[in-house]
Amino acid sequence: HIRACLFDLDGVLVDTAKYHYLAWKRLSQELGFDFTEQDNERLKGVSRMASLDILLSIGKLTLEDAKKQELAARKNDWYVESISNMDHTEILPGALEFLQACRDNGLKTALGSASKNAMTILNNTGLTPYFDAIIDGTRTSSAKPDPEVFTLGAQELGVPAEHCVVFEDAEAGVEAARRAGMSCIGIGSAATLGQADFVIASLADMTVERLSELEA
Ligand code: BG6
Ligand code: MG
Repeated sequence: HIRACLFDLDGVLVDTAKYHYLAWKRLSQELGFDFTEQDNERLKGVSRMASLDILLSIGKLTLEDAKKQELAARKNDWYVESISNMDHTEILPGALEFLQACRDNGLKTALGSASKNAMTILNNTGLTPYFDAIIDGTRTSSAKPDPEVFTLGAQELGVPAEHCVVFEDAEAGVEAARRAGMSCIGIGSAATLGQADFVIASLADMTVERLSELEA
């Protein structure tokens, strides 16, 4: 039975994809090529440097490492500026209610995010107190689909993997959950998240009772 819920941040609890997109688009325009919303799908759940590599491949550019570090830092400055104005209104539908329901039912909760900006977002939206453990991109050495972020979270909660479920909106995240030996509920479309146990449109469709569907 499920004793702990682990949540991805971007695209599961908050809608930050648009800010990542705008910052990457601005960078691509400075570099002289276009970057579409469809291209942006490929960056979901992917670490900052891996995202830059994908962006540069779209623009057919090969750059030196020092230059890449500089571009990634510039993108991050714009992104940090956008999230500095975030507040609780940007929490996705159902997220707060489900986190509260987890708490009310004695389930442990952890954050498992690739982002190095997760703490800023959690604090600005008021989500920080809802977590028993917070693992973000500042605490991991391998990015999703590596299971490290979720394995660490479960360890910190003191709950074995088979009693954990991960909520993810990215393919790489679903794979990470699988490799960690955990159940996984996809948030978004079944077309891309087929490896999840089941897929829901948003956390507004989630209840503590539905966790029993994972045991069927
Ligand atoms: C993930 C996002 O959660 O974090 C990616 O889905 C993002 O789009 C990644 O690139 C890293 O985030 P940051 O804030 O450290 O650049
Ligand atoms: Mg995500």
